[in-house]
Amino acid sequence: QRPIVRLLSCPGTVAKDLRRDEQPSGSVETGFEDKIPKRRFSEMQNERREQAQRTVLIHCPEKISENKFLKYLSQFGPINNHFFYESFRRGPTMWPMLECSGCWQGLYAVVEFCQKESIGSLQNGTHTPSTAMETAIPFRSRFFNLKLKNQTSERSRVRSSNQLPRSNKQLFELLCYAESIDDQLNTLLKEFQLTEENTKLRYLTCSLIEDMAAAYFPDCIVRPFGSSVNTFGKLGCDLDMFLDLDETRNLSAHKISGNFLMEFQVKNVPSERIATQKILSVLGECLDHFGPGCVGVQKILNARCPLVRFSHQASGFQCDLTTNNRIALTSSELLYIYGALDSRVRALVFSVRCWARAHSLTSSIPGAWITNFSLTMMVIFFLQRRSPPILPTLDSLKTLADAEDKCVIEGNNCTFVRDLSRIKPSQNTETLELLLKEFFEYFGNFAFDKNSINIRQGREQNKPDSSPLYIQNPFETSLNISKNVSQSQLQKFVDLARESAWILQQEDTDRPSISSNRPWGLVSLLLPSAPNRKSFTKKKSNKFAIETVKNLLESLKGNRTENFTKTSGK
Ligand code: GTP
Ligand code: MG
Repeated sequence: QRPIVRLLSCPGTVAKDLRRDEQPSGSVETGFEDKIPKRRFSEMQNERREQAQRTVLIHCPEKISENKFLKYLSQFGPINNHFFYESFRRGPTMWPMLECSGCWQGLYAVVEFCQKESIGSLQNGTHTPSTAMETAIPFRSRFFNLKLKNQTSERSRVRSSNQLPRSNKQLFELLCYAESIDDQLNTLLKEFQLTEENTKLRYLTCSLIEDMAAAYFPDCIVRPFGSSVNTFGKLGCDLDMFLDLDETRNLSAHKISGNFLMEFQVKNVPSERIATQKILSVLGECLDHFGPGCVGVQKILNARCPLVRFSHQASGFQCDLTTNNRIALTSSELLYIYGALDSRVRALVFSVRCWARAHSLTSSIPGAWITNFSLTMMVIFFLQRRSPPILPTLDSLKTLADAEDKCVIEGNNCTFVRDLSRIKPSQNTETLELLLKEFFEYFGNFAFDKNSINIRQGREQNKPDSSPLYIQNPFETSLNISKNVSQSQLQKFVDLARESAWILQQEDTDRPSISSNRPWGLVSLLLPSAPNRKSFTKKKSNKFAIETVKNLLESLKGNRTENFTKTSGK
């Protein structure tokens, strides 16, 4: 019996399960219902980066008076906004090497000043601690430790923002009491999407790392990419960072007149890859030795895309720092646009991601598993295939592009329209319930042995090689983003998709009354698989053997209900 906790076992800060209505609310401007972003991705990134540069992170005493805290900090300059959050140490099985670092637990404040200059004043009023036993490496950053002069003076607790979703039990209850499957999908999205505070913390973490990288490359930018910014991020997802050295490379290239051209004296290496490895290696060392709160630094320099992985303990984020990875940033921008075009897109992607996680189709450990990125591409492709289409193809986004959108990266054409208002909304009015069911049916019967998935053209194409799952990389079109997926993992996906399609079909006739807390709809799909799934898989013929599935599932349903009831304590 697999525990339901899998569904929500997000890595990252284990925040206290505070009641939602006690927390500062705030969904990110990421497309939920009426909050469809109209800003360009680059505008949003620049604005948030500028905010993050005026922001500091402070480890606070557990009990603190918010008013006194703000009054104290206001001495250094006016404060624009702030929030508190609680961070816990990760469990020993996930991060054994962090066991001794308990000092990162506790209450943190994220404080955004109105002016960048205030940070200098604050740093000037701060000293480097000294202890009898250890020696501090003097390092001035925007990450501080606040201590009370008088230990007994503070009694009150501040209200803190949650960095993880609700508990399983609360979430399942919420979903069971929803009015419709559409309502369930939207609820799941609302509960899991990154909050405003969590997004701010992500940009702040990048900004803190940027300060360190700037010691070597003063004009560098550390940009978040991937699910932290593409509108598909779940609370607890990793933080992908891209060290952008373009400004360093191109600074003042054409600004000076005269007969001469001045170049920097530099060291040369045989390839871009070696340059990337050298830069990341040094930054990895720097983070490891001097980076406050950066622990578990691993340099993974021989990967296809070299990276430095580390845990930023105070924020609880697992971070992947890469450089020379501009195409991934462009992919994030493309997904941001797709996520913003129609409110159904994100709801469907979140549900499919949660469904895949609940059934261990995805994992935080790299391997032969399908990735969230691939799943998102599959949902986008499926939505391009609807009639009328819900999402445009990448080629049609390219047609809408203007001169400003032109973009070629390493010889790959990455041109597509960036201005959201130039894309016509879809005429398709299908419900989320129908789309979810059709998604599972579509991929439960997809000819993966012959065809590839291609969001550029929005239609199936012959597979160029024998990889079990072939999803064309939208920008590097000769590459397969799901090359890692094994035949058995693909088969598991197909089996689960068929089973889920069938479960949703049953829901039409078998829906409990609204007041019932019996698992239904999306909840039934998220419950752990039955232990005898293997025998089911073996019996299955290539064609969808619906009768066999029906009978087996009928018998599984009892087990599922029992599992759910036991785990949720009802
Ligand atoms: P989660 O971290 O699982 O929430 O999703 P994510 O979209 O952030 O995925 P991940 O952290 O694995 O990767 C970060 C980004 O790198 C993705 O959003 C993509 O833009 C890019 N990426 C990931 N895997 C691939 C791949 O196989 N090929 C290409 N071209 N890009 C990838
Ligand atoms: Mg990621």
